[in-house]
Amino acid sequence: MKVGIDKLHFATSHLYVDMAELATARQAAPDKYLIGIGQSKMAVIPPSQDVVTLAANAAAPMLTAEDIAAIDLVVVATESGIDNSKATAIYVARLLGLSKRVRTIEMKEACYAATAGLQLAADHIRVHPTKKALVIGSDIARYGLHTPGEPTQGGGAVAMLVSADPQVLALDDDSVLLSEDIMDFWRPLYHTNALVDGKYSSNIYIDYFQDVFQEYLQQQSMSINDFTALTFHLPYTKMGLKALRSVLPSADSAQQNRLLAHFENNRYFSRQVGNLYTGSLYLGVLSLLLNDANLKANDLIGLFSYGSGAEGEFYTARLQPDYQTGLDLGLPQRLARRQRVDVATYETLFKQQLQLNATDQQIETANDPHRFVLTGQLNEQRQYLDRQQS
Ligand code: HMG
Repeated sequence: MKVGIDKLHFATSHLYVDMAELATARQAAPDKYLIGIGQSKMAVIPPSQDVVTLAANAAAPMLTAEDIAAIDLVVVATESGIDNSKATAIYVARLLGLSKRVRTIEMKEACYAATAGLQLAADHIRVHPTKKALVIGSDIARYGLHTPGEPTQGGGAVAMLVSADPQVLALDDDSVLLSEDIMDFWRPLYHTNALVDGKYSSNIYIDYFQDVFQEYLQQQSMSINDFTALTFHLPYTKMGLKALRSVLPSADSAQQNRLLAHFENNRYFSRQVGNLYTGSLYLGVLSLLLNDANLKANDLIGLFSYGSGAEGEFYTARLQPDYQTGLDLGLPQRLARRQRVDVATYETLFKQQLQLNATDQQIETANDPHRFVLTGQLNEQRQYLDRQQS
């Protein structure tokens, strides 16, 4: 029985900042951000969006009544959660109108956790093939204004419906994992922005990719020439390019060109949004599948998931004949329609997140066009609005 991703959708903010403009404001050469980091635009998340609303906005448009009736597992992977106890998935399940007979959990291991959620969901469907599982990676990447990590911020959520006989990708059951206690990136409970040793984290990422990829090839008696495309967690798109380049010499020259061409489609959307943390690998997959005209049924896709701290996983999936049917086809238009904000507005919005204290707060939502918005906090409880219910 095939099990895997049946539908794949994405939500981010309607606002972005131009990276050349941000570079100039930070006294950096625009090409450092555009080429050296590999980012053209960065999503600016307004206070009216948090990981709950981003997750609900990603999942709602793809779910039919039949999907909703079949879902009995919801996993939200996030490292920007809103509560130290209650799972983001419970809020999301309520906003989506899911059944109460559902297992709802939040998972955390930096950017890796959505992959853990996906593998858990796939195993669940292997045991319960008539059911469906919803896995969402939802995050807001924050390092702080004027920090080296600033051009690698971003945010958004990727929602995946996992089922038997999936439309998009059938997952192979042959992951290679690596996990060690490493301090490359972390966020203590008292910080709203991540702490990071940027250069060290980039080196560890490459080490992890090489380790799990080479081990995978050895275990499966395969070579790099067997893959149609390799996809990567993309904290900034140059990172994925560096990882790809680190293994390219083992490919023949035609395959090197093919992998590099597919990589440009893999990174196309991330270049316009920035880091999504948990959702990043899967936005890259969506980007490859929506933008690459040279893909066909049964193509073998390699996926490298990385989460600081650190955990890496390499696994593979096979493209299904009707894969376009399960994709977020409206995404290119939605990204193109986003509104550009200047650096001063981005900085104001960055500072305007819901304050993490006990006071009642109200958030202006009039300019946010999304279905689900955060309207504020009352009696220490976040208040969410579903515009289709109001
Ligand atoms: P930096 O110090 O600002 O940048 O930090 P740099 O000086 O290293 O320059 C970056 C690149 O731009 C270099 O290219 C320069 O040569 C180039 P590279 O040598 O790396 O190929 N450059 C130029 N290129 C063209 N024209 C120019 C020019 N000037 C310079 N004029 C860094 C960059 C990414 C370290 C920083 O932004 C950072 O700390 N980011 C956050 C950490 C991060 O994203 N790490 C990635 C790996 S860890 C990971 O993926 C996990 C993560 O997603 C979190 C999680 O798991 O939860 C982060």
